[in-house]
Amino acid sequence: RPARLRRRAVVATGLPVAVVAALAAAAGPAVAGTAGSPGVGDPYFTLAGNGGYDVRHYDLTLGYDTTSRHLDGRAVITSRATERLSRFHLDLSGLRVTGVTVDHAKASFRRDGQELVITPRKALRKGQEFRTTVTYEGTPRPVTDPDGSLDGWIPTDDGAFVAGEPQGAMTWFPANNHPKDKAAYDFAVTVPAGRTAVANGVFRGQKTSEGRTTFRWRQSEPMAAYLATATVGTFKVQQYTAPGGLRIYNAVDPREAAASAPVLKKLPSVIAWGSKLFGPYPFRAAGAIVDRAPQAGYALETQTRPVYDRAPDLPTLVHESAHQWFGNSVSLTSWKDIWLNEGFATYAEWLYAEQHGGETAQKAFDALYAEPASSELWAFPPADPGSGANIFGAPVYSRGAMALHQLRKAVGDRTFMRILRAWATDHHDGHGTTAQFVRLSERQSGKDLDGLFHTWIGTKGKPARP
Ligand code: ARG
Ligand code: ZN
Repeated sequence: RPARLRRRAVVATGLPVAVVAALAAAAGPAVAGTAGSPGVGDPYFTLAGNGGYDVRHYDLTLGYDTTSRHLDGRAVITSRATERLSRFHLDLSGLRVTGVTVDHAKASFRRDGQELVITPRKALRKGQEFRTTVTYEGTPRPVTDPDGSLDGWIPTDDGAFVAGEPQGAMTWFPANNHPKDKAAYDFAVTVPAGRTAVANGVFRGQKTSEGRTTFRWRQSEPMAAYLATATVGTFKVQQYTAPGGLRIYNAVDPREAAASAPVLKKLPSVIAWGSKLFGPYPFRAAGAIVDRAPQAGYALETQTRPVYDRAPDLPTLVHESAHQWFGNSVSLTSWKDIWLNEGFATYAEWLYAEQHGGETAQKAFDALYAEPASSELWAFPPADPGSGANIFGAPVYSRGAMALHQLRKAVGDRTFMRILRAWATDHHDGHGTTAQFVRLSERQSGKDLDGLFHTWIGTKGKPARP
């Protein structure tokens, strides 16, 4: 969650809206039917992801020197061709590629902006499973998002804060960089002894030799590339098994430890609360990474183990935890639908407060509704923020949550909770679209909700008082 949205009443402050990067269709003309496209067709990030194949698994072996900030990488990417491919793309920003093989045969490659264009020696058959190995090195640099924020590999004074929404995964590994294509991951990250490298999923052990420590992690449930992390720093590590058997791994910047402790202690109960409301917690591991990173200015729901740029407050912990269901297990197919992540995680904060002696969701709604018509809150429709520069704006978070509150009022509490739960379970480890959510809500409630959704997520401007 962006720091500027952390106080829910504050919505209209001057956010730095940078010019939207002109994402030209940079790649050359594709030979019909045989070359994978340079993007998956996302309206906001036209070069994000690539066509023609589906990644099954990333095996990332990384070495990071925290002093020189040099990264050495090897990515072994197991994919399945969805069409006959004479050539295909990966996304990679910066860094130097030293070699590419496809199924152990040397492949030729060229760089074209963020596109790594690979031509295997032999065309891949439709349906063929193939393994691409990319070796690379260099100093990773974060990308600047259309809203001016940084994402990807963000160096810190003792390592790197690694958070890739929406585009930053490609700053540290070659990826099919769009949430449409989820995959399993294995990580082996080597850092100077004394530093800790924290990635997603289950901790598989660490080993120190000759002054360097390798940390192994496994994310077995499918994950979108933007949710991958390999955050490096000097951390206090806490590992335990929560009641119910969930493995927790927390890594905390010692400078943030005292402030984090009381909130992090609540993680198991927040997850238990979410499981009761939204259905079983979708992953086999959990935890938190608290890494002081003033350059980032936000927290991200990196899968199983969110990264926080400072000690989180409880609403932020609830927000990033709710994303494990809404956004991580149920993924976007288009960045345009971002309210399905942020509106839901924000509404989860409201539900949590309401059920734990805080203010009611109605009160939160009313406080926002009091915003003047000129507020940024009403500047664009949550379900079509209009460009990548707006995907983390107040309409997406706050008005998205307001829309859910109106849905709740229209269908009643029981049906509303049934809808949220059905959404998380029906699309578990998969994807969902706004249209599917509207249909699900209508099916569960037996009501025509087109007007309601149109008003609350489909239009700009302040809706009439409900
Ligand atoms: N999805 C994150 C959250 O709401 C926010 C990420 C912001 N990223 C960015 N590049 N500004 O928890
Ligand atoms: Zn969020």
